Amino acid sequence: MSTHRLLPIDPQTGRARDLRSLASHAAAFGPLPILPPSADGHPGPLIEAIAESRLCGRGGGWFPTARKMQAVVDSAAGRRKRSPGSRPVVIANAMEGEPASGKDAVLLAHVPHLILDGIQAAAATVGATDAYLAVHRGTPSIDDLERAIAERRSDLVRVELITPPARYVASEESALSHWAGDDTATPVYGDRPFERGMNGRPTLVQNVETLAHLGLIARHGGSWFAEVGDAQAPGTTLVTVGGRVRQPGVIEVPTGTPVSDILARCGGVDGPVEGFLTGGYGGAWVASEALWSAEWAPAQVREAGGVIGAGILWALDAAICPLHEMARVATYMAGESAGQCGPCRFGLPSVADDLTDLARAASTREDLARINARLALVVNRGGCKHPDGTARFIGTGLTVFSAEVAEHLGGGCSASRSGASLPIPKIRKTPVKRAGKDFR
Ligand SMILES: Cc1cc2nc3c(=O)[nH]c(=O)nc-3n(C[C@H](O)[C@H](O)[C@H](O)COP(=O)(O)O)c2cc1C
Ligand code: SF4
Repeated sequence: MSTHRLLPIDPQTGRARDLRSLASHAAAFGPLPILPPSADGHPGPLIEAIAESRLCGRGGGWFPTARKMQAVVDSAAGRRKRSPGSRPVVIANAMEGEPASGKDAVLLAHVPHLILDGIQAAAATVGATDAYLAVHRGTPSIDDLERAIAERRSDLVRVELITPPARYVASEESALSHWAGDDTATPVYGDRPFERGMNGRPTLVQNVETLAHLGLIARHGGSWFAEVGDAQAPGTTLVTVGGRVRQPGVIEVPTGTPVSDILARCGGVDGPVEGFLTGGYGGAWVASEALWSAEWAPAQVREAGGVIGAGILWALDAAICPLHEMARVATYMAGESAGQCGPCRFGLPSVADDLTDLARAASTREDLARINARLALVVNRGGCKHPDGTARFIGTGLTVFSAEVAEHLGGGCSASRSGASLPIPKIRKTPVKRAGKDFR
């Protein structure tokens, strides 16, 4: 019987099975069917199953995958008339820049061949002649991935492993498409990757979870995929559950699963929760009671005030100060920008500084008003969505934790425990010059 699982579970241990070898992968999932390639400026026949599946990208934006592939094919067809040989490129995004996310690492470690199947399926569908798997430098599974790639001698398209630096914005699609093999990988504005990406060629960038789903759609079809989950964004999805839960980790659930069930699968919350972070550091905070009753699907989580983003659900311990957490993350996010656009050069560092003062209970109402005014100014003004995501993280936090904000404006803090909860990677040398507090 076909399975909806990206991560088959070992019944003995209750953990995801180790399917790193091609033989174990083929035994678990069955063979990948022959993939008819695209021809004459049209997508390959698999596009119909992908459209029928209503698969949406799992890298954060939940954009319909079939539409994105069609855009790459159309762009390549238009370009070929002018410059023959400009065939598309596929980049599998396994960079997992969100520090609170663990789902892509789990896929790489357990089912690398399912990702590689998805790369082949994507390449056949858009007519790509080159494919890359991008993992950030220092990824523990690099040797295993190289072995997995070497095992696949009958693939249509050879996959090359690339290792850009482990920076938050290095995994944005235009940064990946234009990475020059050096220590910087910065977003490039202007043409989008589907128009001009790697080496000027139309480039399809997909998250590796999206591609792993594609590996299953190629086997079982689009209607099979859409049998489970939410009607608008069907299928299963990986959720990284962290914070104040008894068994944090990555689980796979059908989209539309109630948040309360997801938390129950992780052993339930382990004490009072102040609020939930949804979607990661480019995501949104939601009050506990608003999220608890919601279903984990893009539209429903949005209605509750959150975003699924890269599939992160983080329960914030009520004993910890949410403003300290927000200030730590805002400082990290300000330091991770590429420092190319006004909102990142001036806006984010200033907001992070003001938020740090607020967390220290050293702010006035005027300071708070300035944070809100600056947040409004950074939105929609960057070359990529990094400032928008960070502004949403901070803006929703100030609303959800308004009682704590009021306490801090009065010089206090309600936290009963000091300490940090959300993970912050070691901050590397920041390319951003701090601009002081005069950003308007
Ligand atoms: C600042 C920033 C960081 C991003 N980081 C990631 C990432 O780590 N992994 C990822 O898959 N997508 C990331 N994205 C989204 C990618 O740009 C791109 O939309 C995604 O890889 C497309 O895959 P999908 O359609 O399968 O979701 C990021 C976007 C932004 C703006
Ligand atoms: S908005 Fe920020 S991260 Fe995005 S391109 Fe501009 S400077 Fe770089």
